[in-house]
Amino acid sequence: MQRPHANRERVLPLLAQFGGVTEENVRRVAQITQVAEAEVWGAGTFYTLLTNPGKHVRVCTGLSCRLRGADELLANLAKSGTPAEGVSCLGQCDRAPAALDEHLEVYSPRPAKRAVTPDNPALPINLGGKPDYSFAALAKARALSPDAIVRELEASGLQGRGGAGFPAHVKWKSVLSQRERERYVVLNADEGEPGTFKDREVLLRRPEKVLEGLAVAALAIGAREVYVYIRGEFKAELEAMQAVLLKHGEHLDGIGFHFHRGHGAYICGEETALLESLEGRRGMPRLKPPFPTEQGFRGKPTLIHNVETIACVPAIVLRGGAAFKAHGRAEAGSKLYCISGHVNLPGVYELALGVCLDELVEAAGGYEGTPMAFSPGGASSGFLPIAERKRPLDFKNLAAAGTMLGSAGVVVLNDTVDMAKAALWQAEFFEHESCGQCAPCRIGTRFTHNALKQYAEEGDPSTLQHTADVAWEMEEGSICGLGMTAAKPLDSARKHFPQAFGKR
Ligand SMILES: Cc1cc2nc3c(=O)[nH]c(=O)nc-3n(C[C@H](O)[C@H](O)[C@H](O)COP(=O)(O)O)c2cc1C
Ligand code: SF4
Repeated sequence: MQRPHANRERVLPLLAQFGGVTEENVRRVAQITQVAEAEVWGAGTFYTLLTNPGKHVRVCTGLSCRLRGADELLANLAKSGTPAEGVSCLGQCDRAPAALDEHLEVYSPRPAKRAVTPDNPALPINLGGKPDYSFAALAKARALSPDAIVRELEASGLQGRGGAGFPAHVKWKSVLSQRERERYVVLNADEGEPGTFKDREVLLRRPEKVLEGLAVAALAIGAREVYVYIRGEFKAELEAMQAVLLKHGEHLDGIGFHFHRGHGAYICGEETALLESLEGRRGMPRLKPPFPTEQGFRGKPTLIHNVETIACVPAIVLRGGAAFKAHGRAEAGSKLYCISGHVNLPGVYELALGVCLDELVEAAGGYEGTPMAFSPGGASSGFLPIAERKRPLDFKNLAAAGTMLGSAGVVVLNDTVDMAKAALWQAEFFEHESCGQCAPCRIGTRFTHNALKQYAEEGDPSTLQHTADVAWEMEEGSICGLGMTAAKPLDSARKHFPQAFGKR
């Protein structure tokens, strides 16, 4: 039971400030927050950055880094006696193989220069452009009624860019329709899906747009407080936002901005897990309904959006919903596509929502080698054969192919890749990142990973014989998207590349 004066929300930030979970730190945090020691311990031990904050190198083992030699990098570090460990994803696929040192600085054999679409002021986000501190969209929004702002959003056709593609205006309307007046805006800046690094570029290059979008959202739904939940490794990105607030904060008067650094758990990108984490608990997804727009942060109506979604808002307010919509093809708007793997210029490209792989790769300098497969939207989307290179990369067209646009983290694999190995790497990711509260996901992700490992060692296809049943269990019996999609990489690789799973 929670003590009357307990301040659970401070538990994780304090543990981080004191250097992670140790007996002494847990005792100190329990005393300060009045949360029971066992609960402080229980919450803290969920998070990688709190349980293993030591002075070692973290090597990314996401798909793009593995394609570029992450395993060799780990082996070389071990040989040289450098303390190092493999981690699920660092959001640096364009610099693969990437690693982070103890100060959270990225190091990579690839050039530090990141590729993005060159400056084009017509684009809604325009990563290559110069920051614009006029906050003109916010000024315009201040003169509009909440309903008028939401109408413009509806006209824009903006779908959430965090993965599900849910129409943004429906969420804004839902919060507005709640009787409760205490409302919150939460920014999901916990980007962690392997293959995805677009939010990182938005935060670094256009932090003013993100803050302006958040302010418009707060104004529209009647919130006074905005919470930014930002990936723990995003140090420079956090500083970029704080610098704008420091210099230009007068434009954002009347809104309180709060920053919460994540602690190294992919699942906290799931919106309800994120809320649990923000409230000082283990990042375990909640059952829905109720949805966050009804009962979210602190049990109050909460609008949660992805960074890219929010960064589209200023252009929508300023230039009108119809103008935003016109940037897309069958679906609305421009889209930030991340592309990495076997292409010449991995990066983030703002293109019409609905371009195909060939168009995206053209922007990224062309294919490297002979392309064989691609993953269209992060680990959860599985794989498609290169024969699908002309399929529009949008929500509907990818769903029709049994996959998804997700976070638009596109990874290209050329014909040097063993698809069984690619499926194994993704399975390892899901096992590691399952929060463990649903038995089908907890057991199923481990089973699938082990089966693929055994297949890699023995080359006997019978080791995979029960994986399809387990996939069904995970899909049907999991409460969040992680468990529901964890079998996708193996499923899709087997479907499209059966030759990769024969007797060896
Ligand atoms: C396992 C899992 C991980 C997720 N990770 C992220 C993430 O890192 N960033 C994000 O914005 N959304 C992520 N989402 C989606 C969020 O739950 C949520 O739909 C999103 O933040 C809503 O914002 P949007 O409407 O702007 O897309 C994830 C979902 C799942 C199931
Ligand atoms: S499906 Fe997996 S990750 Fe999602 S809540 Fe259940 S155990 Fe946790």
